[in-house]
Amino acid sequence: MNIHVAILGSTGYTGAELIRLIENHPYLEVTHVGAHSQAGKKVRDVLPGITGHVGDLTLAKADAALADDVQLVLTALPHGAAAEPVKKALDAGKKVVDLSADFRHQSPDIYQQAYGLEHPHPHLLKHAVYGLSEWARTDIAQANLVANPGCYPTSTLLPLIPLLKAKLLDDSSIIVDSKSGTSGAGRTAKTGLLYCEVNEGLSAYGLPRHRHAWEMEEWAENFGHQSIKVRFVPHLIPMSRGMLTTLHLTGKHTETWHQTLLQAYQNEPFVRVLPEGKLPSTKGVSGSNRCDIGICRLSDTEAVVVSCIDNLLKGASGQAIQNANIMLGLDEGMGLSIHAQWP
Ligand SMILES: NC(=O)c1ccc[n+]([C@@H]2O[C@H](COP(=O)([O-])OP(=O)(O)OC[C@H]3O[C@@H](n4cnc5c(N)ncnc54)[C@H](OP(=O)(O)O)[C@@H]3O)[C@@H](O)[C@H]2O)c1
Repeated sequence: MNIHVAILGSTGYTGAELIRLIENHPYLEVTHVGAHSQAGKKVRDVLPGITGHVGDLTLAKADAALADDVQLVLTALPHGAAAEPVKKALDAGKKVVDLSADFRHQSPDIYQQAYGLEHPHPHLLKHAVYGLSEWARTDIAQANLVANPGCYPTSTLLPLIPLLKAKLLDDSSIIVDSKSGTSGAGRTAKTGLLYCEVNEGLSAYGLPRHRHAWEMEEWAENFGHQSIKVRFVPHLIPMSRGMLTTLHLTGKHTETWHQTLLQAYQNEPFVRVLPEGKLPSTKGVSGSNRCDIGICRLSDTEAVVVSCIDNLLKGASGQAIQNANIMLGLDEGMGLSIHAQWP
């Protein structure tokens, strides 16, 4: 029998991607679709690319009760709007993967610093497992609540953690330079995301401290056992999806860094370390749940590491399905592709 799934925030970019992925999943079935301003409409009228059984479903109100047979709840809501429905779902005995930032921090104080909001359910933070799948598998398998990582942190932490664990990086601040397609900002209309504002342009934003900087530092320390400071500058680029992150790193024994990354990910289907000197591109991962990592050694003490993900897949909905698979005891790759769409 299929596992029934509710998607709250199903009309956004990550919600729509969850519907698409679950369509190809052998055991998951979307039976509840929640929305906010679009509640009451049919899915097919809001997401023209979705047809069939899910296209026919009517979008429930954000606070609608979930049926008893729903086992898994995927919350793809803005931060601040997820905490309440997550709590309700947990109280009703459901497993939850939350794609928002509401449960990504262990401390309510850090959440407040990063998001300017008081956390409504701080006691739940200690029950949430930060779902960077490759580094938290055992805990994810036991979890009822997984906080799915942010897209920028995913593209930063995957290349960084093995180097931190191997004690190869020095303590100076790490420059994290990221570029994201505009779907990273969601579907809600914003002037800065209009075609004329974004097309044929490139802009930095989020300075002096983008909220994902806290997430990168917290989880780099937790997984990499070294306290770091990031100088993180995100940029918006005129493409729909895709994310490229460049890390400017200093440390020691750079001749070993490529091998360190290779060893860390040699058995990981969703992380590919390219041959030394070869750098990834967003096209190489678009439509796939993979993170590609390339490294270029500059000297004995300096290197540039570049990672690419599809922000809507490994950066959001793909990793959420990967985590749901782990939580449900299913094969981790079910419903997910490692191959990019091309061209
Ligand atoms: N986009 C990415 O690449 C990405 C990557 C990683 C993580 N995330 C995180 O994933 C979450 C969803 O992102 P998204 O890009 O899919 O956002 P989005 O496109 O803006 O969609 C937001 C969804 O939430 C619903 N919604 C909006 N305000 C709400 C409220 N106050 N209460 C309940 N529902 C509300 C919307 O419903 P209506 O359409 O009916 O108004 C829509 O379904 C966010 O927390 C985001 O930070 C996004």
